[in-house]
Amino acid sequence: MSTSPSNRSSVVAAVINMKGGVGKTVLSANLFREIYSNFGIKTLLIDFDAQFNLSQLLLTRADYERFRAEKRTIQYIMEPEQPDSVFAVAEDDLECVSNVDDYTIELESQGAGGPSLCMVPGDFRLALMNLREGSGLKLPARRFRSFIQNAAQTYGLVVLDCNPSSSFVTRCALEAATHLVIPVRADKFATLGVELLYKFVEQMPTLTRKPKICLIHNDVRDVGDQQAIVDLRAHSIFGPRTLVTEIKHSTFFMPSSDYTGFATDRGVAHRYAIAGLLRVAADELAKALEIIP
Ligand SMILES: Nc1ncnc2c1ncn2[C@@H]1O[C@H](COP(=O)(O)OP(=O)(O)OP(=O)(O)O)[C@@H](O)[C@H]1O
Ligand SMILES: [Mg+2]
Repeated sequence: MSTSPSNRSSVVAAVINMKGGVGKTVLSANLFREIYSNFGIKTLLIDFDAQFNLSQLLLTRADYERFRAEKRTIQYIMEPEQPDSVFAVAEDDLECVSNVDDYTIELESQGAGGPSLCMVPGDFRLALMNLREGSGLKLPARRFRSFIQNAAQTYGLVVLDCNPSSSFVTRCALEAATHLVIPVRADKFATLGVELLYKFVEQMPTLTRKPKICLIHNDVRDVGDQQAIVDLRAHSIFGPRTLVTEIKHSTFFMPSSDYTGFATDRGVAHRYAIAGLLRVAADELAKALEIIP
């Protein structure tokens, strides 16, 4: 099945949690790749974290260096190139990032003319933007908004792998998102972290349209996690918005110095169990994101 953005509105999913290490990057890659594969939706993964872990997960060092040399990273979207002459480029032109393809790379595609899975590599220099204040942030914010608006013209699904803080780039992500996908690790502070994010979103004055939220339990071990999961599922706001499917703890999702790429492409026999689980989770998430009925 193939769904083009022309017959339905695009989804911009920010994968976010103020808590670190909950699986934002792992799920941005593996779960959304599964949605791309299963539903044939042209998908763009954006590494929107200065740690650039998504890029490190999916790209070799040599490829990453090449894309950076070609100025295909999030940094070049946020920050305009300095024009040779102050008269050469009008301010309006600097605010508009219309040529989306200049900044993306293709990870895979479903044949000629078919939907593709693309990426905007991350960039460590994004961290410097969070140190800036006031008017110095207006242009990056406008450029990012413009890029997302243009990307949503051709991509059915745009995924933002966010950083674990309430920084400038987090605000950009929240303003762009139609949906928030919140991975949670089953621990006693899980609900607190999600409540903080929820309050932040509710109180953000610039957010006129609140994104819909969807939670997913990640890295679930069979022993010890159950009470935290029961507590979150019983929560009056978050319980009904939590996927039934839980992503189990698996060595497939753990970093390995000798492997670059998606978890289920690793050539190990029992990968099929994880692939099956991701497929079920992707199905449920696609419904929650209103990508499929
Ligand atoms: N289901 C899982 N099973 C096993 N390990 C997992 C699982 N999910 C995530 N991990 C591991 O936990 C660590 C944190 O995951 P990840 O980097 O995706 O979290 P994050 O929320 O993106 O972190 P950060 O807040 O630093 O961006 C990684 O080493 C990852 O490989
Ligand atoms: Mg991450």
